[in-house]
Amino acid sequence: MEKVTVDLGRRSYEILIGKGILPGLGEKLKAFGFSPIVGVISNPTVFALYGDQVLQSIRGAGFDCFTVLIPDGEEYKDYAWSHYILTELLKRGLDRNSCIVALGGGVIGDITGFAASTYMRGIHFVQVPTTLLAQVDSSVGGKTGVNHYMGKNMIGTFYQPRLVWIDPGTLETLPPRELLCGIAEVIKYGIIWDEEFFGFMSKMKVDIVGLEPEAISFIIKRSCEIKAEVVSNDERESGLRAVLNFGHTIGHAVETETRYTRFLHGEAVGLGMCLESRLSKILRLLDAEQLERIKTLISVYGLPCDLPDDLDAGNLISHMKHDKKVVAGEMLFALPERIGGAVIRRGIALTDIERALAK
Ligand SMILES: NC(=O)c1ccc[n+]([C@@H]2O[C@H](COP(=O)([O-])OP(=O)(O)OC[C@H]3O[C@@H](n4cnc5c(N)ncnc54)[C@H](O)[C@@H]3O)[C@@H](O)[C@H]2O)c1
Repeated sequence: MEKVTVDLGRRSYEILIGKGILPGLGEKLKAFGFSPIVGVISNPTVFALYGDQVLQSIRGAGFDCFTVLIPDGEEYKDYAWSHYILTELLKRGLDRNSCIVALGGGVIGDITGFAASTYMRGIHFVQVPTTLLAQVDSSVGGKTGVNHYMGKNMIGTFYQPRLVWIDPGTLETLPPRELLCGIAEVIKYGIIWDEEFFGFMSKMKVDIVGLEPEAISFIIKRSCEIKAEVVSNDERESGLRAVLNFGHTIGHAVETETRYTRFLHGEAVGLGMCLESRLSKILRLLDAEQLERIKTLISVYGLPCDLPDDLDAGNLISHMKHDKKVVAGEMLFALPERIGGAVIRRGIALTDIERALAK
């Protein structure tokens, strides 16, 4: 089993990674001394695949265990469904030392963390991420939240889990398109933080998309290490953590413009990373050769890299102006200055952004 620690003083926690570790979850929970009743929050798709294993494991460790299922889909990551979870926790009599487990992708992780952070002013929660995106990104770092009809992830908290328990074996049932979404975030870490890791992603494509266990465990571990390092230094995104937004400023605008129906999140991030790298080159931060290497890697994995003809740059810019990251009217961009390093920029001239989005 591989271990990564998120170092946050008294709120530090471990990320444990190992193929086939799912049935060991219950025993691990026992060591925390949580109250005797544990809630598992999931959706019907994931629960049908892994629910029995998880319940058996938790019950086998002596806990009483119940399940709360919310429908599968980003549209259910909202306040109403978090309220539904809270009601179920109240009905079951969970107390302030209780723990709930998020079994699923980023949607389940975000809404479960949000419910955990507000139930009785905060109870324990454990992440059991089952998508690659959740294993390399959303389960680590403590951003929780739900969507509002006026904007994605607009309601939320910073609230750290007690443990992240990652079984890469769960990726074997994940649809290939969802796997690629996680890969987009892995490529992001290479670009903003670690050139060698970027090189690994270039060389090992066949093993990675083929879910070869060693390659998959390595990319999950390295991604978690990078995210843990960033979060340990800047938990609440007052500075450094913003580098993780690389690809997301344009990516979110693309998702909003296409009403979350045409691109999955990771696909929009892939496109966003290509266009933001182009912006970086326009600003003379990144050279032409590195821009080409970035675009090639993103394309090699089958992620989109060019803005489709029917997407209007003006509309995208107006969405960017309403992004959560806008402060005092200035948009925020995390931009690579080389493969393996990025900087945060605000106040970029509109004409430069327009050039980056030009077809
Ligand atoms: N908190 C953060 O730091 C953070 C970071 C990035 C993204 N997010 C959030 O994460 C969410 C996206 O997460 P996601 O990409 O994991 O999507 P998701 O949770 O919707 O999962 C994608 C699909 O895969 C299915 N699925 C999950 N695991 C499976 C498995 N092992 N086998 C088969 N099917 C499986 C799910 O049921 C769903 O249909 C968004 O809401 C986004 O805002 C949060």
